[in-house]
Amino acid sequence: MMVKRTQGEAAGPASAPDDGANGIDVNAVEVRFPNGYFGLKRTSLTIPPGAFCTLLGPSGSGKTTLLRVIAGLLTPNSGKISIGNKEVTSLPVQSRNIGFVFQNYALFPHMTVAQNIEYPLKLHKWSQNERRARVTEILELIELPHVAERAVGELSGGQQQRVAIGRALAYRPSLLLLDEPMGALDRRLRQQLGTDLREIQQRTGITTVYVTHDQEEAFILSDKIAIMDGGAILQYDTPAELYFRPKSRFVARFLGEANIIQIADLSGMAGNVPTANTSFGEIPIPAASVRSSNGGALSLVLRPEDLILLDAESAGPEMAPPIPVKIEKELFLGSRCLVTVSKQGGETLLVECAKSHIPPFGSKVWLTWKRDAAVLIDR
Ligand SMILES: Nc1ncnc2c1ncn2[C@@H]1O[C@H](COP(=O)(O)OP(=O)(O)OP(=O)(O)O)[C@@H](O)[C@H]1O
Ligand SMILES: [Mg+2]
Repeated sequence: MMVKRTQGEAAGPASAPDDGANGIDVNAVEVRFPNGYFGLKRTSLTIPPGAFCTLLGPSGSGKTTLLRVIAGLLTPNSGKISIGNKEVTSLPVQSRNIGFVFQNYALFPHMTVAQNIEYPLKLHKWSQNERRARVTEILELIELPHVAERAVGELSGGQQQRVAIGRALAYRPSLLLLDEPMGALDRRLRQQLGTDLREIQQRTGITTVYVTHDQEEAFILSDKIAIMDGGAILQYDTPAELYFRPKSRFVARFLGEANIIQIADLSGMAGNVPTANTSFGEIPIPAASVRSSNGGALSLVLRPEDLILLDAESAGPEMAPPIPVKIEKELFLGSRCLVTVSKQGGETLLVECAKSHIPPFGSKVWLTWKRDAAVLIDR
């Protein structure tokens, strides 16, 4: 969807609050439910103004709990929340100026699209003229002016979700919070709507926190992603940092396929290159990765797409020394294949390979990778 500049708009953002976009600061927040369960363990998170931040994690990891704390729907047992440099920890939800979108869009099905968008403006006591102008502006932003007078119950799921986003933005909130807003939609529609949402977000410059457990969605949409598990944020980084520099086994495994190789000892050197002693032999480790590890690193991650199969034991100096392996099986996934290779002793690794490049089963081949593709993780 192309998002058009709406009528009468200056170069600035359409829906940003008067004082510009607000950042969010969650500082050492803890949530303990009445039954004693820790919904959030001492959690900190800083979201810069205007950023699109995603909370990504498995079911029960605390995503909704963190979103509710930011919203003011849940008061933390300890810690502080600030929005735009103002502490809001004890401010009720209605004083935080936040737009919400939830999975079940919670639109009023018998009201028209325009009436749905207008509803929060009435609640906020905008004048009729202001309301009319703003509804027109929002309808253009979400590209639905042609259905303004239709009942929302007559719209498709994707259109309804756009109305929900439009309604959440109508009264110019300073933050937009979305909890699995596309959970009920099919994959293709989710992708389209995700792109639409990102365009609307960039267009308006509103700081956004988005909850999902869909990794691809998080990668496409986000400036930064917080990976959550067990009521804690395990890593908070850009999508590329998370993928290429995971800090833990959980993050490496949660984001795509990962070969994780245990390190027995990290004190070896080959020339001036540090090496790790593993069951696959001495593996060179990028010096920067060794420097940034906290010394307790015990495993290394190799992504299947970084591994290369050779039919002879020769590789350039920038490559890891080739390891002899056997082809065990292949998994055909359409655009790519995942090949399982084993080394003597039975341990296996996954290698991504074009279908036409897979050597015959049982044949002896060598495995290598660019030396700097190996990443150290904690466990
Ligand atoms: N009111 C409550 N009382 C007790 N435990 C709760 C309460 N609300 C949530 N929990 C628990 O806290 C944990 C985190 O819940 P939360 O809803 O934040 O997970 P989530 O990451 O949003 O999961 P999902 O992807 O399934 O929505 C879960 O184990 C949940 O059972
Ligand atoms: Mg949830």
